[in-house]
Formats: sequence, structure tokens, C-alpha cells
Amino acid sequence: MKEILDAILSSDSTSADFAHVKLPESYRAVTLHKDEEQMFAGLDSRDKDPRKSLHLDEVPLPELGPGEALVAVMASAVNYNTVWSSIFEPVSTFGFLERYGRLSPLTKRHDLPYHVLGSDLAGVVLRTGAGVNAWKPGDEVVAHCLSVELESSDGHNDTMMDPEQRIWGFETNFGGLAQLALVKTNQLMPKPAHLTWEEAASPGLVNSTAYRQLVSRNGAGMKQGDNVLIWGASGGLGSYATQYALAGGATPICVVSSPQKAEICRAMGAEAIIDRSAEGYRFWKDEQHQDPREWKRFGGRIRELTGGEDVDIVFEHPGRETFGASVYVTRKGGTIVTCASTSGYMHQYDNRYLWMSLKRIVGSHFANYREAWEANRLVAKGRIHPTLSKVYPLEQTGQASLDVHRNKHQGKVGVLCLAPEEGLGVRDAELRARHLPAINLFRELDERSIQPSRDI
Ligand SMILES: NC(=O)c1ccc[n+]([C@@H]2O[C@H](COP(=O)([O-])OP(=O)(O)OC[C@H]3O[C@@H](n4cnc5c(N)ncnc54)[C@H](OP(=O)(O)O)[C@@H]3O)[C@@H](O)[C@H]2O)c1
Repeated sequence: MKEILDAILSSDSTSADFAHVKLPESYRAVTLHKDEEQMFAGLDSRDKDPRKSLHLDEVPLPELGPGEALVAVMASAVNYNTVWSSIFEPVSTFGFLERYGRLSPLTKRHDLPYHVLGSDLAGVVLRTGAGVNAWKPGDEVVAHCLSVELESSDGHNDTMMDPEQRIWGFETNFGGLAQLALVKTNQLMPKPAHLTWEEAASPGLVNSTAYRQLVSRNGAGMKQGDNVLIWGASGGLGSYATQYALAGGATPICVVSSPQKAEICRAMGAEAIIDRSAEGYRFWKDEQHQDPREWKRFGGRIRELTGGEDVDIVFEHPGRETFGASVYVTRKGGTIVTCASTSGYMHQYDNRYLWMSLKRIVGSHFANYREAWEANRLVAKGRIHPTLSKVYPLEQTGQASLDVHRNKHQGKVGVLCLAPEEGLGVRDAELRARHLPAINLFRELDERSIQPSRDI
């Protein structure tokens, strides 16, 4: 591994050097163990601790298949899917690996008694498999997490529609929270040259998801002047949705749960901000019943902030807890676009408000190849910025995941894999200098406001 790292850190390594670098037989990776699937049985979600289920193991190097790349991972990031995997909710990810393993002898490699997690990476290509022409050893890359087979015509217009669509490092093995990772080369994209490894690794999954959900015609198709209600506006998805709304000439109405998070939204450029904790919204009276008066109070607050207007788009992901309110507050003809159900996936809403007011609910999931590329391109151009607030070493991925599980984080939480320290990997210092305050925004505000988390 030292030889690989030395080649990456040296300024004069050539593609041939990387092509000849000796590959190790094993590498360090953050894993789940199949024989621990039941370890949290009977506990409340909140009490399931990722520090107990996530291990740092030495695992064998997988065989490289056609159309694939082996990548040296300098940095990765925690996504909420790392949290779902680590608490084995809503299902154990080993079921995904077993199903994928039944597809072909090549996919059988993924069905192992351990699962290497991680759906983001920034790093350097070490080897490419047969049939790969566009990428070569030494290329500095980020990887998006869309894994597809594309053997069915269903996915030929929109690669998210492939019946064998999977999220790499969640529904497949050999993910990015490791020193090495295996990806399909169609997942590779150029690493934004002005960012460090850990900054470049952090937007991937959430940025692409927010792009499809809000901007793409496959999602809400946001236009200039739209009012966009953004739940969790300083979180992983929300921090990108807020940037897309601002960059696209829309007005974000940011919902957050603390003054610190409100400050972050303000610093991003948002003006309309609702602190849901301070204002005490209780959309559910009890487990079974919602309180429409609270939906109205919430809608009234939005109108106060917009000068009397309702929202054109709701950027939904909390799910059960907020969905009734989201449907209610959307304007006539507006769109509720949802990609998740963090607080529960059995939603309830009053359908009269949907059909009588001709609203649409749109389901959205990750992003197709092209959308992921376009979202990365905007980061590379300095139009959309990473929202990295904190960085942990690979050994502390459990703690990083607990921060996200407990909603103690801002924006994105990064993980250093092979990178020995933060701050490495910048190739375009001039572009970086132009955007430095925006790039550092989340980290600086986090350092000012949040007490440090405990180690494992
Ligand atoms: N389908 C996809 O492709 C896709 C992609 C990415 C993520 N996701 C899913 O989307 C969800 C959010 O992901 P993320 O990365 O943005 O997570 P995150 O970084 O934890 O941010 C989510 C934010 O939502 C807010 N929130 C949480 N529970 C809430 C509730 N009950 N009511 C209102 N707001 C609530 C919180 O903000 P405040 O406390 O400040 O309000 C939180 O910071 C997860 O379930 C994740 O698995 C899906």
C-alpha cells in the first residue's frame, strides 16, 4: 500500500508507474459482518450504535472484471445509507448481496460474509479491466454510486430505470470506505481539480440525488422564480438542494432544527428559514392521527416568508413525519418530490389536497449516469460547492456514522482512507482561491458552533 500512496503523493508519477505499481493481496476496509445481522434485534433505531457493527478489517483484493476499475481511495464520505446498513434497517444489506450474486459468475464475487460499505470516493485509478478505453491508471477520479447492467432496454433512455439498478457500496460490495475499491468504469468522473481529496469525495451521492430530484426533468424540473421548501436544508441532501435553488434563480425556504443550522443556511445565501424546533411544529397528535391545524400554521409561516405565496416544490425526504404537511403546503399544481422516508415509509396525507389542487407526487432516486455527470461538472466548475463539515480517519467511521445517525452533523461528514492528512490533492489552486470561503463554509461554521464528538 505504501508504494501506491507514494506514487499518488509524488508529483511526477506517470500512468505507466501506476500501471506497474504492485497490488497488495489485501486491504483495509470498513465492513459489516453477516453473522452479526441480528445484533441489534429488539432495540429502538436510535439505540443501534454503528460503532458496534462497523469493523475495520483486512479483506482480500477482489478480482477485476471487464469494464471495471480498481481505484486507490484517498477519501470517502458517510452517507445515510451507511447508517441504514450499519443498523441493518429497514433490511440487512446482505440480502442485496445474495440477490446480486445470483445474477452471474462475476456478480457472485459480491456475495460474501462481509460487506465493504461506502458509496462515495475520490482517488486514483490503479487498474482497468478488459474493454475499458476511456480511463487509465493514474487518472484522478471521483465515482458516483450508480451500478447498472444495462442488458434490458428498460434502462436505455434513463439508466436509473435499469431493472438491475443498484447503489454501489450499499447494494453491492467493495465500496469506498476502504483503501481500495472496485467500481464499474461508467461510474468514474474526473475529480474536481480545485478540491482536496476529502472535499471531492463528499458531494457525490447527495449532490447527484439533489440534482435529479430538484433540477432534472426526471424530478421536479425546478425553474427560475420557484419557491422550494427544503426539509433538512443544512443536511446532506438539503445543503445541495439549497445551493441548486439559489443557483437556479429559485427561492429556497429552508427548514432546519437549530439556530446553528439556520446560520449555515443564511451563510449559503438563503433568506427564508424556518427553525422547526423553535417553532414547535407537531404534525402528529399521536401515532395514528395528524393535526391539520399544524399543517395550516406551517403553511401560514411559509406565506409570511414568501410574501403570501405557497411553494411550487417540496423537496421531501423525512417521510412519515412531514409528508402530510408537505402535501398540504404545496401550491395548486405544484410538486412534492420525494427520495426517502427517514422517519418512516408508511406515509399518510389528505388526498383531497392532492387531487383537488392538481398536485403531483414524484418519486426520485439517486441519478442516472448523465445526471450524476452534470452534477459533478457543476462542482468541478465551482458553481456548486462541497458541504464538508468534519473529517474522520477510516478507523473512526463508526463515530462518523453515529454523528449522522444522531443528526449531530452539518452537511457532509468525510472520511480519510489512504490520504494521510486533510488538504491534499488540490491541482487548480487558482480556481480554489476564488471559491475558498464557499468551500470552507460548513467546516468553519461547524467548528464555531458544535462541540467535538467522542471517538470510538
Ligand atoms: N433515494 C436516494 O437516492 C437518496 C439519496 C440520498 C439520501 N437518501 C435518503 O434521504 C434521507 C436524508 O439523507 P441526507 O443525506 O440528507 O441525511 P442527513 O444529512 O441526515 O440530512 C437529513 C436532514 O433531514 C432533517 N430531518 C431528519 N428527520 C426529520 C424529521 N423527522 N422531520 C423533519 N426533518 C427531519 C434533519 O435536518 P434538521 O434536523 O435540521 O431539520 C437532517 O439533518 C435519508 O433517509 C437517506 O437515506 C436517499
